[in-house]
Amino acid sequence: MKIILLGYMGSGKSTIGHHLAKKLYLTFTDLDNHIEKKENKTISEIFNEKGEIYFRKKEHEYLKQFINENDSYVLSLGGGTPCYSGNIDFITNEENLFSFYLQTSIHTLHKRLSENNSKRPLLSSLSGQGLTEYIAKHLFERSVFYEQALHRISVNSKSVDAIVTEIRILLH
Ligand code: S3P
Repeated sequence: MKIILLGYMGSGKSTIGHHLAKKLYLTFTDLDNHIEKKENKTISEIFNEKGEIYFRKKEHEYLKQFINENDSYVLSLGGGTPCYSGNIDFITNEENLFSFYLQTSIHTLHKRLSENNSKRPLLSSLSGQGLTEYIAKHLFERSVFYEQALHRISVNSKSVDAIVTEIRILLH
């Protein structure tokens, strides 16, 4: 079974992916971690030393390679992955692949992202009202890509278990 989780930064892709994979006895991969291992650098180091365009190229390359080389997995994407280099088309065209958009409100995202964004280069200089405005605009621009996932799950105040159960029901 091939499962991809996508959504904005802070939507819980990695946490949900990890728990979902355990329940389904599948391997779990977080694309950001995968890129970090392959490049031997943290995401922040890649952004700072090589720039975002380099990151997007590598993100595209490793995503394609991962999908082409594996046929059973839970894969959590980075928040921007579906929005660049035709990645969303590549995902939606893959046979027998279930994609889930973990949808979150701006309010929930602000709460989560104002606490911990030191590892997120796009947000690290933002806080307060500036952060809210950035999230609102960015989410608006990205939603058109996220909405192309096969399923959409509203995750705001739900527990990890509840979300995992919801996904498992949709897989049947
Ligand atoms: C990004 C999200 C990050 C990471 C990079 C860029 C984005 O992943 O890929 O910092 O463009 O939204 P998370 O969504 O796991 O934070």
